[in-house]
Amino acid sequence: MSAVKILAIETSCDETSAAVSANDTILSNIVHSQIDIHAAYGGVVPEIASRSHIEALPKVIDMALEDAQTSLSDIDAVAVTYGPGLIGALMAGLSYAKGLAFSLGTELIAVNHLVGHISAGFLCGATPPLICLIASGGHTNIVLVKGYTSFEVLGRTLDDAAGESIDKVARSLGFSYPGGPKLDELAGYGDAAAIDFPRPMIGDDSLDFSFSGLKSAVLNYLNISQMRGMDIVREDVCASFRQAVVDVLIEKTMKAARMYNIRNILICGGVSRNILLRVEFGRKCSEKGYSLTLPPVSLCSDNAAMVAAAAYRQWLEGDFADFGINADPSLEL
Ligand code: KG4
Ligand code: ZN
Repeated sequence: MSAVKILAIETSCDETSAAVSANDTILSNIVHSQIDIHAAYGGVVPEIASRSHIEALPKVIDMALEDAQTSLSDIDAVAVTYGPGLIGALMAGLSYAKGLAFSLGTELIAVNHLVGHISAGFLCGATPPLICLIASGGHTNIVLVKGYTSFEVLGRTLDDAAGESIDKVARSLGFSYPGGPKLDELAGYGDAAAIDFPRPMIGDDSLDFSFSGLKSAVLNYLNISQMRGMDIVREDVCASFRQAVVDVLIEKTMKAARMYNIRNILICGGVSRNILLRVEFGRKCSEKGYSLTLPPVSLCSDNAAMVAAAAYRQWLEGDFADFGINADPSLEL
């Protein structure tokens, strides 16, 4: 049998992306970022995101087909992210995908964005069972990946996601949106031991996280320093804060691996681009003799290749969507 060709679409936040896959091989992956548009407002403006997706989708899909040297007539299924994310942004992609699948007479595959992030790891050789850390702008979850389509959430954030707290701290340090990558870069020049920020919930029994107290501790530090007229060494603030976030993410993930006796770790989501997180996970896993899958940074942030990877597993299980399906902004794993 010839390979199953899937056209995948991702529009859950501020990246318009389309990818084409043949079975579990990615033939193309086009990502059009809206960051420049939203940066002027200090964060993603949902209404602008939806409109930009609608404008960009035809071109991005054409580019993905061209890069894959294929055409719509060769496509067997259209896959799309249907949640979680911004409702208008999700609807832009979902409506487009429904229209395409209907007019082509193909299957429609609805993908959970979080399953997408995990599936980026499958493209890089990760095989279940795995302990997976998903750290993004909207989520911080520890997931037991039992199979390619079987997941159990073991821990989650009780308040802010890691990326959300990083972006808020970055903003108060004067970085434009999204501040995560800039904070990460400046942290490289600072002393991680300069300021003793808290590591919330690091020693407790649960696998849950809390980042809002840590974020407040940094904001308080900045306010108090300013009020007292003290010099703020931004490099040290970035380095000390980054170290606190990374310590908690690693400690909880390793605890999950111990608790479930699993020696394969996967990290995914936008925050897994973080330089210190990647280095420290590498060090910890080699110390323990665990295998670690670190997807390339292009597959950590939102992209449609990960959606195609998830969709292929759903295709194998005959998990197709009805055309009546709605976007679900708070979809869980
Ligand atoms: O997965 P993603 O692209 O979108 C969501 O699904 O949320 O994640 C975006 C998040 C943002 O909070 C961004 O600041 C963060 O990932 N991020 C980083 C880095 N690169 C992106 N956080 C820390 N260090 C980085 N290098
Ligand atoms: Zn994401």
